Amino acid sequence: MRLGIFGTGYAGLVTSVCLAQLGHVVTAVDKDAETVAALSQGMPTIREPGLPELLAANLDAGRLHFTTRPEEAICASDIIFVCVGTPPRNDGRADLAQVEEVARTIAPLLDGYKLIVEKSTVPARTARWIDWTIRRLARPEHEFEVASNPEFLREGTAVSDFLQPDRIVIGADSARARSLLLDLYKPYFDCPIVLTSVTTAEFIKQTANAFLAAKVSFINVVSDLCEALGVDVTAVARGVGLDHRIGGDFVNAGLGFGGSCLPKDLSSLITVAEDHGVDIDLLKEVERINNARVERLLAKIERALWVLRHKVIAVLGASFKPDTDDIRGAPSLTVIPWLHAAGANLRVYDPAALPKLKKLFRPDDRLTYAATALEAARDANALVILTDWDEFRMLDLKLVRSLMRTPIIVDGRNMFAPAEMRAAGFEYYSLGRGDVTLGAERHRAWT
Ligand SMILES: NC(=O)c1ccc[n+]([C@@H]2O[C@H](COP(=O)([O-])OP(=O)(O)OC[C@H]3O[C@@H](n4cnc5c(N)ncnc54)[C@H](O)[C@@H]3O)[C@@H](O)[C@H]2O)c1
Repeated sequence: MRLGIFGTGYAGLVTSVCLAQLGHVVTAVDKDAETVAALSQGMPTIREPGLPELLAANLDAGRLHFTTRPEEAICASDIIFVCVGTPPRNDGRADLAQVEEVARTIAPLLDGYKLIVEKSTVPARTARWIDWTIRRLARPEHEFEVASNPEFLREGTAVSDFLQPDRIVIGADSARARSLLLDLYKPYFDCPIVLTSVTTAEFIKQTANAFLAAKVSFINVVSDLCEALGVDVTAVARGVGLDHRIGGDFVNAGLGFGGSCLPKDLSSLITVAEDHGVDIDLLKEVERINNARVERLLAKIERALWVLRHKVIAVLGASFKPDTDDIRGAPSLTVIPWLHAAGANLRVYDPAALPKLKKLFRPDDRLTYAATALEAARDANALVILTDWDEFRMLDLKLVRSLMRTPIIVDGRNMFAPAEMRAAGFEYYSLGRGDVTLGAERHRAWT
């Protein structure tokens, strides 16, 4: 099939490349000329495992084309995907300006029946606004419909998530739209396909993200209780998560959820519920608990180091999760300025996200960027882990200890076993497992 895709960010680029990989002919349009130039030369603009190879292969095969000209994506296509950003507004609602702009762009360029499909995550009933916008601006003889096909990929495993999905949700209100989308996804007929109305599909995506967020906040509350009771939250999570009704994913206690999706989709859903007068305190609490995670870590850092002024702190990890360079909604965006303001000398390292971080926080005499984790650790008073990159798991702890001024690790991701750290000679602070301090292991409630 011939497909047009608006937006080549994290979701749009993966969607473009993977749909081309399935054999479709894809024209992807982005407003950003630099992004389009880089992608056209086979240079990925985001870090995503498996993406560079598929990008190159599909450009070579002539199935994938990038442009800044919307008309190329519209004229050449049967289906047009909307993959532009829906960032949060200050009041928690989703900012739908990019989606509206795409609708306004498409309207005058329609040249026959087109199916316009939301892949961006949007509040329920956004499709009606897209339909209304296009209908006002398009010539009446050109038919079109709006459908929803939410995207469930996770950054870091986006390519395999897209190519081996748990399920595909198709929200379409006509037989024609439904059958077009079913044709598109023919290669996936062995994965469950959920056929629903457009509004239901929109709502499924926001509900899924709110549920995942709730799981994370649940285990984080449990983790605080674990510290008070002197039990290890990792063992509790395993014992609980092996129950297939609960599941072992998203029950890792730590710094909570971040990124560009879960926080904004949760707050957007809360505003939708409020607009409809539905009691949504449960989800407000999920949000509050998550927002408090970073404060808890900062309190641990102070507990470990006492006065922060002039202390050298190695910060390991800036991306919101491993295997991505995305820093949107990452704890590093709060932790780094807080430690800096407290007078600490920071050495920050991340395997992928430093180019983005450097644009936000310029280096100065108390903030430098290290080329490796070991370089960051040299002469440090403490090492603070914010992202659970595998690379950190593989660190030679003996070497790390020998490089540091004082062997203190504050681990926001519970990457290491406390007993292992005690044996390696570290003071080790994590979340929900009892801290390894100089003398003995201490279990305390951090309230
Ligand atoms: N990032 C993810 O992991 C993920 C996963 C599932 C769903 N989503 C959803 O997908 C949507 C996009 O997220 P993202 O992370 O890819 O955002 P992003 O900010 O990385 O990408 C958006 C892209 O759209 C482009 N754009 C904006 N307006 C445009 C226009 N009028 N015409 C052409 N291009 C335009 C921007 O230049 C940018 O490249 C969001 O709604 C998000 O919630 C994201």
